[in-house]
Amino acid sequence: MSPLLSLSATFRSIHIRSTSILNCVSELRRRQIKNVFSNRQLCRLVLGIETSCDDTAAAVMDETGSILGESLYSQKDVHLKAGGIIPPVAQRLHREHIARVTQEALDMSGVAPSDLSAVATTVKPGLALSLGVGLDYSIKFIQQHKKPFIPIHHMEAHALTVRMIEPVQFPFLVLLVSGGHCLLAVSKGVDDFLLLGKSLDEAPGDILDKVARRLSLISHPECSTLSGGQAIEHIAKQGIPMGQLLSCVNDIAAAVQYTVASHIAKRTHRAILFCKAKGLLPQNSATLVVSGGVASNQYIRKTLKIVTDSTDLTLLCPPAKLCTDNGVMIAWNGIERLREGKGILNHVENICYEPKAALGTDISGQVREAAIKVPRLKLEIKE
Ligand code: KG4
Ligand code: ZN
Repeated sequence: MSPLLSLSATFRSIHIRSTSILNCVSELRRRQIKNVFSNRQLCRLVLGIETSCDDTAAAVMDETGSILGESLYSQKDVHLKAGGIIPPVAQRLHREHIARVTQEALDMSGVAPSDLSAVATTVKPGLALSLGVGLDYSIKFIQQHKKPFIPIHHMEAHALTVRMIEPVQFPFLVLLVSGGHCLLAVSKGVDDFLLLGKSLDEAPGDILDKVARRLSLISHPECSTLSGGQAIEHIAKQGIPMGQLLSCVNDIAAAVQYTVASHIAKRTHRAILFCKAKGLLPQNSATLVVSGGVASNQYIRKTLKIVTDSTDLTLLCPPAKLCTDNGVMIAWNGIERLREGKGILNHVENICYEPKAALGTDISGQVREAAIKVPRLKLEIKE
């Protein structure tokens, strides 16, 4: 194994949430890494920065997809106490933490800014005030260090994270379920998506967060530090979703989780049948990728597995910590774009963030017109 790979492997699974151990990267290691890179010209390196919502995150990744360093500051606790994300508060917290988080990721990687091939940053979609902090910081950084910039679409990054872990070939079907979005799309290439459908009103994560708030789950001893979705998943384990009078928060959580899961499953089932009818996926080895914060929910995954089993698709989900927002997925999207030479900017004068941004070409009208009838599946999960 090359020194680079063994070094990367050591750090592959480390996840740091605003810790202080990062200053310990020795100068020796920094030099070792530098030698490997300069001797072999092996790997290009990307710094990824994410601030689209309530996580300030950064990661350094090499071209093989190895995570060299990462750091994440989650604002979750602050927003949980406030009863929701207040954009100016999110902006202030991003401002307070972005320099430290980025420096931690760089320190952990042992990579100097001058060694980076590019900086990749989420510029769309997301909260305007949050996106602005990451973009302003990144522009200053790249101007100071004279680096190319790769603007990243947050939902495209969620969609392609899985390819960092498994070599999933295009095209594949992807379901993106998060706090702000619910999207079904065919992923045909790094920057090529067909949008089959999206939530008309509220995204599943938003619904779970609101129900959790109405149930005051923050006061539940086992849920005080969990996001709404996590809290619902946790207490639903002791609940019964239907068939009898709901009697407690556990039952309500189970019923809500079942409703969200079965709705998502039916829509995904229809998307699969549409793709089959139109030949949009490989005939023998079609894959459904599920990502975004809500995809870390094991109950929802199991429900979707019933759908993929019955339609002969393979279900793939990134590990939970890569489903919720993180810097690694942004760095990886930067690597994918760098490899293909797509969307790499040497001038950033006109770059703006975009709070709303479509994903690919919208063909949801064709899905509606096809009016495919979805066969009933027994979706109830016994845990
Ligand atoms: O992707 P993400 O980290 O941020 C957005 O881009 O929105 O998703 C956050 C959402 C939140 O609504 C949170 O409640 C939900 O993902 N979530 C979950 C779980 N973990 C996080 N929902 C259901 N089950 C979970 N285990
Ligand atoms: Zn997200």
